[in-house]
Amino acid sequence: MSVRIVLGAQWGDEGKAKVVDYLTRDADIVVRYQGGANAGHTIKAGDLEFIFHLIPAGIVHPDKTCVIGNGVVLDPAALFQEIDDLEARGITIQDRLFISPNTHLVMPYHICLERASEEKIGENRIGTTLRGIGPSYADKINRSSGIRIGDLLDPDVLPAKIRANVREKNEILTKLYGSDPLDEIPILEAYIAYGERIAPFVTNTSVYLNDAIEAGKRVLFEGAQGTLLDIDHGTYPYVTSSNTTAGGACTGAGVGPTVIDEVIGVAKAYTTRVGNGPFPTELTDETGDRIREIGQEYGATTGRPRRCGWFDAVIVRMAARINGLSSLAITRLDILDELEEINICTHYTRKGSRIDHFPVDLKVLEGCEPAYETLPGWQTPTRAIRTREDLPDNAKSYLDRIVELTRTPISLVSVGPDRDETIAVD
Ligand code: IMO
Ligand code: MG
Repeated sequence: MSVRIVLGAQWGDEGKAKVVDYLTRDADIVVRYQGGANAGHTIKAGDLEFIFHLIPAGIVHPDKTCVIGNGVVLDPAALFQEIDDLEARGITIQDRLFISPNTHLVMPYHICLERASEEKIGENRIGTTLRGIGPSYADKINRSSGIRIGDLLDPDVLPAKIRANVREKNEILTKLYGSDPLDEIPILEAYIAYGERIAPFVTNTSVYLNDAIEAGKRVLFEGAQGTLLDIDHGTYPYVTSSNTTAGGACTGAGVGPTVIDEVIGVAKAYTTRVGNGPFPTELTDETGDRIREIGQEYGATTGRPRRCGWFDAVIVRMAARINGLSSLAITRLDILDELEEINICTHYTRKGSRIDHFPVDLKVLEGCEPAYETLPGWQTPTRAIRTREDLPDNAKSYLDRIVELTRTPISLVSVGPDRDETIAVD
């Protein structure tokens, strides 16, 4: 399979980067197509650990090229911080990173607006990563105020756009939120400098990718966030502002759906969520704390503790449907190694009725109770295991039940953070 999408089948943090890193061996190009520096993609190989927010995880492989597609919202400060960090560790980006001129920018006022808005909402806040993602996408959709990478490179356009935006946003910041106004001059100076530095990376990435695919190159699309955080299909409004689902790879990179050979959904062997919003299988008891501590479930971008719960087959079934999943990659199986018993949510019940499909209406979802099946734990370490056959029987049964309930085969199982701690399932 030469063109693959790897995306999150839950609420993000599924271990997508680990799977992308593993599959990058069989790829030439790795592409980010949505989201921005809200993502926290961690990869581990031996003693090396990298956390990526914007640059595709494939960059650690010196012979691969990486693309940031038009669907991403890019904060140049975050990008150059990442490039500097990589170069300090001996990884060069030169001629290996391509960025679409249609990619929208995250500006300092987006971050200020988001912070002010979240503070004003108070308790019902979305609990965003405060990376300016929502306000940047809002400007993109709004059309008149969006600023793209292409504008950064155009000295006739950039000053006027920044000036108009800072003036408009200052009205909102000062009058609506009572915040301090921003000064347009330092923003303009910083962004002119970013433009000069970013120029060598900018190219028509849609043409680049389509030519590469036609020439037989293998492309891996690296999703950010997860299906349940999708702006259309997720638990709106507690979602991110982009299409995290498979269609987002096409619109966010400028390729047609007919070039995609395979869609791999990454799901943890349990469920986590960071930020507010519904989470039917959440564990607010000792078991939830135990999973958080064993799994060190703290956000890679914000450091926030993640909410933990049982595997929810209802949400993963939905992910299989919306993304047309070819297979699942189940990650963090090892985190469940110690547990005596493991619950798996097969469906929900509401007012005595059985619910098999994830409800589209949050009010309906609020009234849903997860129905569990209890499976015996395997209570054996799995990290050193490299074949499905060698897994303990109870772990195999658990994985088999996931396949049955999600009606999706499993192609990969991850039993540790390291690249090598992976079981490929035929
Ligand atoms: P990766 O790619 C987990 C969540 C935030 C919040 C909501 C909206 O590492 O899986 P945003 O800043 O996007 O406007 O926040 O989405 N969120 C993530 N949760 N993993 C992520 O990325 C996330 N990116 C955003 O916590 O609930
Ligand atoms: Mg993350």
